[in-house]
Amino acid sequence: MMKLLDNAFAHPRGLLGQLGGAIMARSTRSRNEWTLSLLTIQPNEQILEVGFGPGALIEGMATKITKGQIVGVDMSPLMLEQASKRNAIAIREGRVSLQHGSALVLPFSDDTFDKALSANSIHIWPDQLAGIKEMRRVLKPGGEIAIVLQPVWARTDDEVKHIGEDLTQLLTQAGLHHTRLEFKSMKPKSSVCALGIK
Ligand SMILES: C[S@@+](CC[C@H](N)C(=O)[O-])C[C@H]1O[C@@H](n2cnc3c(N)ncnc32)[C@H](O)[C@@H]1O
Repeated sequence: MMKLLDNAFAHPRGLLGQLGGAIMARSTRSRNEWTLSLLTIQPNEQILEVGFGPGALIEGMATKITKGQIVGVDMSPLMLEQASKRNAIAIREGRVSLQHGSALVLPFSDDTFDKALSANSIHIWPDQLAGIKEMRRVLKPGGEIAIVLQPVWARTDDEVKHIGEDLTQLLTQAGLHHTRLEFKSMKPKSSVCALGIK
């Protein structure tokens, strides 16, 4: 069972990955809308998403960008393919750029992005603190990081909030300041977003 879930959602590959990508693209609408409302994206910003999956949040962010760019990195070649199809026009127009890569070794220079975010991916990374430190490294001074989780494994809202508090602590440990936690009740599970400033 764990292997099936892994192939569908955590490291999407094969037929299950195709299906998982389609499910994630449809089921994340309210979470993505909420995330967008927290980010207040400006049209000229450089924004990084790590672990973009089928690229539905990239699609939402790209509508806010005119002069800037949304850049994405994901470990799954299949998700790169799905997200590239979903965002084909924005990629052609240069508003979106997607690539294969790992959260732990981001292929970007220091101080590149105004915002760096990740949604429902950090719990899969082999080293969460190292991943957040990498995101911090590529943020410009004053840039903002946002880590979103909708933990389907949590049984209660208190558990979801506790998971969010752990995320906020990780941000502090990684050297982010002005950290804060946002919580949103939604179906099928409430979500948290830990934010911080470089
Ligand atoms: C559960 S999916 C979430 C996808 C999307 N963000 C969403 O909310 O629907 C997790 C994604 O993280 C990616 N991922 C897992 N480990 C990663 C890592 N170490 N670096 C980059 N991406 C990773 C997977 O390939 C997958 O696309």
